[in-house]
Amino acid sequence: MKKVLSLLKPFKWTLLASIFFATVNTAMQLLLPYYTRDMMSSILGYDMKAIVRCALIMLGFTLAGIVTSIANTYFSTKTSVGYSIELRNYIFNKVSHLSQSNIDKIGVSSLVTRTTNDVRQIHDIVLSTLKSILPIPIMLVGGLVMAYRMNPGVLKTALSFIPVMAGLAVVLIAIIIPLYSKIQKLVDKVNQIMREKISGIRVVRAFNRTEYEDERFDDTNKKLTGIALVAARSLAGLIPILTLFMYGLICVIMLKTINAVNLLDPVTQSEEIMNTIPNLSAFIAYFSLIITSVMSVVSILMSIPRASVSGKRIKAIMEAVPDVIEPESPVTPAEEDLGKVEFRNVSFKYKPKPPAKKKRFMSPKGASPAPKKENSNFMLENVSFVSRPGEMTAIIGITGSGKSTMLNLIPRLYDCTEGEVTVNGVNVKDQSSEALNSTIAVVPQQAFLFSGTIADNVRYGKPDASDSEIWRALEIAQAKSFVAAMPEGIESPVSQAGKNFSGGQKQRLAIARAVIKGAKIILFDDSFSALDLATDARLRASLRENLTDTNLIIVAQRVGTVLNADRIIVLDNGKVVGQGTHAELVKTCELYREIVVTQISEEALGEGANEEKATETDASEQKGGDDDE
Ligand SMILES: Nc1ncnc2c1ncn2[C@@H]1O[C@H](COP(=O)(O)OP(=O)(O)OP(=O)(O)O)[C@@H](O)[C@H]1O
Ligand SMILES: [Mg+2]
Repeated sequence: MKKVLSLLKPFKWTLLASIFFATVNTAMQLLLPYYTRDMMSSILGYDMKAIVRCALIMLGFTLAGIVTSIANTYFSTKTSVGYSIELRNYIFNKVSHLSQSNIDKIGVSSLVTRTTNDVRQIHDIVLSTLKSILPIPIMLVGGLVMAYRMNPGVLKTALSFIPVMAGLAVVLIAIIIPLYSKIQKLVDKVNQIMREKISGIRVVRAFNRTEYEDERFDDTNKKLTGIALVAARSLAGLIPILTLFMYGLICVIMLKTINAVNLLDPVTQSEEIMNTIPNLSAFIAYFSLIITSVMSVVSILMSIPRASVSGKRIKAIMEAVPDVIEPESPVTPAEEDLGKVEFRNVSFKYKPKPPAKKKRFMSPKGASPAPKKENSNFMLENVSFVSRPGEMTAIIGITGSGKSTMLNLIPRLYDCTEGEVTVNGVNVKDQSSEALNSTIAVVPQQAFLFSGTIADNVRYGKPDASDSEIWRALEIAQAKSFVAAMPEGIESPVSQAGKNFSGGQKQRLAIARAVIKGAKIILFDDSFSALDLATDARLRASLRENLTDTNLIIVAQRVGTVLNADRIIVLDNGKVVGQGTHAELVKTCELYREIVVTQISEEALGEGANEEKATETDASEQKGGDDDE
């Protein structure tokens, strides 16, 4: 929590102003009953001048109270809102500097909840501290001192009840605080189920799991409701009990005072009798202030567990150490090596994740667990190759063989475990990430588009690109025809995650974004998978023709895509089982031959069928769905 609160530093002046006004406001509240007493004495003594004087003083204090209360609210809101902006910015920046494996560990949806919901909890506790908690000790001490001055004897009687009330409050709080921690975790769980259901709605429906998802949500929701009700009932019980005690005490005090007055001699002790009523009313006012403070403490204590859970979650991000570390003195690559990519005996393993607590689905009885991969630790083993500008290197292999993993090592999303990955002739660990990323453009496996327009998305690769450059990039990426067919052209809107485009259209827009960057190295991660064979072929030809001085590294599933590559790397379970041109591999690599044989007939059929299809594709693709989320 200390670390989380350290970001309050820039707001120290507004914070101090808020504390100052809270203190002055409390003092005003404490002074009012004092003058009420004077006023009553003056009324009983028919002293008009004193009555007016008291009334004016009280009016002054009330006005000052209003002004200081407004000032306190202004400064405490300014502090808490400014602080939450700072905190949110901090988390956002920190997340963008975290490595991919840090993000894998925390989880994307949790990162979003931490930046929004958890920051809100911290904001609320800071605000309530500045507005309500700080004045409480002053109110308690001040109230006790003033009450003592009014009637020391009665205060002792009243205070003897305090331990009973405090005991009661402590018992209830001890019950409620753990409940609030549980509530916070269940709120997270409800959010998570909701998020999964909404983002996976198509899968849920396609697999007829709507009922199952509803039950899952219902279970957690009921649990949350149950616990929240227990907490709310306990809290609801606490306040009336405290109020009952307070009024009971006031009755006892009044009875005691009346009894004491009865015993006084009306002649000799008339002044004392006259003072009793004003003193008693001021005393009751002070005592009410004390009890109200105690009640505020109780209700604020309730919000602490929630904020503390949020504080811990935010702290986890603040303390996360990126495991891809920037070099202290980055090496500048030589001009002639720009665009060269080399793997030297590279091996890689993912950092193990903590085991999942609960299985979502029970496996059928007797079913054995999925077989473990041979050497399950290493995802890539001993990979070596060199690829230069002007060349095309293809990586092929069955699904899960480590193709994307291999590609991810080039822009240093992960650091290799053994061996060396060099880009531009320098180890990626010795280059600044900015310099490294400026030479690499990536087309990810799941084409991701930002909401905005087509032009915005393509300009992501080159912010100052002119419209004609955008059209040129779209042309190279074989996207020109469908963009031109849209009424607004490159200004056509792109909805969130590019939902208004088909899979193949998204892939081509993502390719245009990479092409326009003019990088020396372009990585394509299975980026032609949603294209029909004819478009795929046209696109490859266009890339080679237009990007003559670019190092193209292409991950593919289809042999047709890699046929003309300068070198094809065949991966099997993280190991390179073949490397060479198509002609060489057909002769030397068993796995490659198998892949070719299984795809040849399909492609032969596909080529014929696609002659006709290619003309229709662009027009009909617009509404097709894709499942990247
Ligand atoms: N972030 C990750 N953390 C842990 N393991 C991972 C991670 N990403 C991938 N893996 C594992 O690494 C293996 C290789 O994954 P990778 O994505 O590289 O395969 P791929 O060859 O690209 O497959 P595909 O053709 O399906 O895209 C898989 O077994 C997967 O379980
Ligand atoms: Mg992949």
